Amino acid sequence: MKAGIIGLGYVGLITAINLRAIGIDVTGIDVDAKKIELLKEKKSYIYEPGTDNLLERYNLPASTDVKAIADADLVLITVGTPSNDDGSQNLTYFISAVKSLQDINYKGAVVPRSTILPGTTDSYVTPYFEHVGYNPEFLAEGRANEDFIHPDKIVIGYKDEYTRDIMKKLYEGIKAPIIETDIKTAEMIKYANNAFLASKISIANELGNITKKLNIDVYKVTDAIGLDSRIGKKFLNAGIGWGGSCFKKDISALVQISRIHGYEPEIFNAVLKQNDLQPLKIIDILRARTEIKGKNIGLLGLSFKPETDDIRDAPSIKIASALLDEGAIIHAYDPRAMNNFKNYDDKFKNIDYCENAKQCVERSDAVLILTEWNAFKDDRLYPADKIIIEGRRIRGKEGVCW
Ligand code: UGA
Repeated sequence: MKAGIIGLGYVGLITAINLRAIGIDVTGIDVDAKKIELLKEKKSYIYEPGTDNLLERYNLPASTDVKAIADADLVLITVGTPSNDDGSQNLTYFISAVKSLQDINYKGAVVPRSTILPGTTDSYVTPYFEHVGYNPEFLAEGRANEDFIHPDKIVIGYKDEYTRDIMKKLYEGIKAPIIETDIKTAEMIKYANNAFLASKISIANELGNITKKLNIDVYKVTDAIGLDSRIGKKFLNAGIGWGGSCFKKDISALVQISRIHGYEPEIFNAVLKQNDLQPLKIIDILRARTEIKGKNIGLLGLSFKPETDDIRDAPSIKIASALLDEGAIIHAYDPRAMNNFKNYDDKFKNIDYCENAKQCVERSDAVLILTEWNAFKDDRLYPADKIIIEGRRIRGKEGVCW
């Protein structure tokens, strides 16, 4: 079986190389010639644990020319679908990927895998191709290769039997429950999944904001409620709020489409608002301990989570901006994300980027831990007489919600 993948960003690259690892003949397509050159050298242009090894071992043939996948049995579309300013989805790349397949009169199954609102495939793909499906991804950054090979589920939305059968064949090598459904439902499952996960974290954060006032450790509470199998232990870690490129974008798009249909989704509005405010709580706690103006404040961790260099929507952005506005001198260290952070905003260029965590702590009067990298878990890093406030639970001593 032959498969094509259009859009070799994060999702496309991980999907393509893992499909090759399970024996599928996949070719990748991307408009960016630099990416194709790097792939020829078997090099990854994203930081995701395990990806370099997979590329070295399985090699991903790739091209800028969509004709290279003209004879594929199916094509997955994995281009970015960013948010417009009003939260609606920007389909520019998606539409151009679909058009490129129309231009070559492609006859196989066309299966978007980008996160797109319910109805998008039926509006922009179904009218133009005989075989159409939708196959959402549930890859979390930092563990995406693992998530691909050992998923909790595989969702296959389809219009016709050819697409259903070829998609099932594609995933034959992976052991997971398969959900077969219509395309619109498959699109909705992805939004529901992310909206639920983000809301679950926000509930933990809200509980944490309350327990902090009551002098109760939120982790003792969430560890206990997590044992209720109806609640479950995962995604109950309270802290400075969820970040990353997906949750905010997806919930905002869901709110938007809901409004278009005349329904105001109060819970998701509240989740977005709560998460907007959550990062700044750590500054309130810091302010109660020390003056901020003119003080040396250390930030340990800038990425939105460990094992990635990604800072999109990271709580560190709001926290660093607010500290600079209050006149703090910032010293920061992150094992991977310092370059991205420096280039994110001109005002971040003057931050003192340290060589390691120890140097960052030494140069600071107070330290905020913003990402739970393993390197920050060594207790010897933190002198007893220094103010250390955790935004992510590492030591459990003093933190944003504990
Ligand atoms: C998320 C979903 O977990 C994936 O299933 C989905 O495929 C992906 O979005 C997507 O739509 O592409 P991701 O954003 O990479 O994946 O990362 P998560 O592990 O979900 O973490 C998101 C944020 O929540 C991070 O800032 C993390 O620190 C925070 N978080 C997570 C918490 O604050 N508490 C927790 O208990 C768990």
